[in-house]
Amino acid sequence: MDVIEAIKTRRSVRLFSDRDIEQEKLDRIADAGRLAPTARNEQRCRAVFIKDRKTVENIAKACDRYSWVATAPVIIAIYADNDRKMMCGQSSKTVDCSIAMSFMMLEATELGLGSVWMGHFDADAVKKAIGVPEEYVLAAIMPVGYPADGGEPKEKLPREDFVRYI
Ligand SMILES: Cc1cc2nc3c(=O)[nH]c(=O)nc-3n(C[C@H](O)[C@H](O)[C@H](O)COP(=O)(O)O)c2cc1C
Repeated sequence: MDVIEAIKTRRSVRLFSDRDIEQEKLDRIADAGRLAPTARNEQRCRAVFIKDRKTVENIAKACDRYSWVATAPVIIAIYADNDRKMMCGQSSKTVDCSIAMSFMMLEATELGLGSVWMGHFDADAVKKAIGVPEEYVLAAIMPVGYPADGGEPKEKLPREDFVRYI
């Protein structure tokens, strides 16, 4: 599968089978995040691949009404220390973490895994559950696993509404 095929076939998956993810696949996903670009090449993002069932359940509880989160064999959390505003006004760490998570999401798609990006979670509760200091940026979490439900393809903007050439 090439990159554009992964981009085109990816969709948010919110129900997972109980099949474990092979370690080789987890390593490839970790590499996709590790090799992503970072502002000033600071490389301060770190990922936690949460497999421990009790911790997965605690994170699901920190996701409000999203009990399906607990069906994921792995939840990936991405965080960074030492936040800094770039000249453009954006947090370098939030952007760095988001790029790394996007790369991991696409690699997961290539490997036949489903995933969903999540921003709806109690960050303090998740930080506590995975041992990340309160002052760090926890940009996102992403349940990953073999899909039990393929997810619905979403309508996307036509190209001419997305891009403007000047
Ligand atoms: C920044 C961000 C935050 C999101 N947060 C959640 C979330 O908390 N819960 C959820 O079920 N989906 C979440 N999603 C998934 C979106 O709902 C989903 O990407 C969108 O509906 C488009 O569907 P698709 O991913 O299948 O293309 C989030 C996606 C992004 C990019």
